[in-house]
Amino acid sequence: MKMWSGRFREPLDPAFERWQRSFSFDRVLLPFELEASRAHARALEHAGVLSSEELSDIVRGLEQIGVKAQQDSNYLDDPEAEDVHHFVEKQLVVLIGETGYKLHSGRSRNEQIATDLRLYVRESIDALQLLLADWIEAFASRAKKSGDAAMPAYTHLQRAEPVLVAHWMLAYAEMFLRDSERLADCRKRLNLCPLGSGAVAGATLALDRDAMAAELDFDAPTANSIDATSDRDFALEFVQVLTLMGLHLSRWAEEMILFATQEFGFLDLPEAYSTGSSAMPQKRNPDLLELVRGKCGRIAGAQQSLIMTLKGLPLAYNKDLQETQEPLFEAAQTVLALLPLVTGWMNAAEFNYERMKSAAQAGGMNAWAAATFLVERGVPSRLAHQAVGKAVRLSLDRGCELQDLGAAELRAIHPAFDVELAHSLTLDAVISIHDVTGGTAKGSVKQALQHVQESVARIRGQVHAHA
Ligand code: ARG
Repeated sequence: MKMWSGRFREPLDPAFERWQRSFSFDRVLLPFELEASRAHARALEHAGVLSSEELSDIVRGLEQIGVKAQQDSNYLDDPEAEDVHHFVEKQLVVLIGETGYKLHSGRSRNEQIATDLRLYVRESIDALQLLLADWIEAFASRAKKSGDAAMPAYTHLQRAEPVLVAHWMLAYAEMFLRDSERLADCRKRLNLCPLGSGAVAGATLALDRDAMAAELDFDAPTANSIDATSDRDFALEFVQVLTLMGLHLSRWAEEMILFATQEFGFLDLPEAYSTGSSAMPQKRNPDLLELVRGKCGRIAGAQQSLIMTLKGLPLAYNKDLQETQEPLFEAAQTVLALLPLVTGWMNAAEFNYERMKSAAQAGGMNAWAAATFLVERGVPSRLAHQAVGKAVRLSLDRGCELQDLGAAELRAIHPAFDVELAHSLTLDAVISIHDVTGGTAKGSVKQALQHVQESVARIRGQVHAHA
């Protein structure tokens, strides 16, 4: 039976009927639909609408639907089901008879879909947090393993200053820690229960909203039924966090692709995550990285699609809202699927520390350290910069590094350049002068690593506390 055919004289145009259905995609909400329906059924019994036998029939029926769906993939092939709500009602009636029709008492699909989607996003956030913790940990353990290894850091993609490889790894860890925080923040805001909001004005039966919220682990019921049945901010906010995460992933992927080129040669592409070329036998291609970079466009597209769907919608529920589901699912599934892969890639990739180190020692990257040397001897910074600039010019003409210039030549450029300078220009010395919180000196990086490791443990702890 349809959920709404009573007032209609004419049947629906069959093509329209098929076209407006959402069951082909909202079936992923089935576990949440069942969970929310059970909470509603309990509230109905409490309100005296269901007897305790009817309640237990309904609860049993809902459970069976869940089991059947898990055991038999064809179970969901119901060409008549309009959406996941209709499917559950139909199956419930098949399983327990007409009592099944009582489940819909005092509720509307508008509050149901709002609730299911919140549960879907909440579960996705928890799963993502655990995957993010593994992903961030991959950077932390790489950072730890890389010890004192050094590499060039770039600005404008030109060699700028040498840094510890660990410092570079932890830069990514910080980006993804922020994403994790954003997810946690989004979870906090979405964790309110729309059940009992009805179609728009609130439930017509005395349903205990606090009890339904508590049963579904929501912090509280939503405050306004008009807003609750039409709000999809949580979906957009979530996809926006995913967009930012995708953006970070694409930056990472791009840099790995670059560093794996023969021109850089900083890393070896792991074979398990690369492919060859059907034409060029020598090729090993960074497919995983390229797909990650590419998929990030899809996620940003989903965000855009949600914004366009939601923009200008009058209160309250409008069927347009059905269009928010696919971009939401697509963005969530895309990131859920790729996080374990990038973690596997990161754990398998081999970094070429030798090559990174020689790059870190070439290109005059100790020039700022040389200027600092002068500044510490009382030379005004601008003049120190100029003097070192001249020394750099000279070294470029000679085709050598600053430390290869003769002491007399240097003194001729600036008298404050003395024999001590050589000690300040070694790779170790250049790295150690950046000894501030957040800087690249060993001690600072060690602190940063500890902070990342603690944050990873905290993320895992939070998810387990929610479970
Ligand atoms: N499939 C619908 C959706 O996703 C469920 C809510 C339908 N509500 C309605 N009033 N037709 O939005």
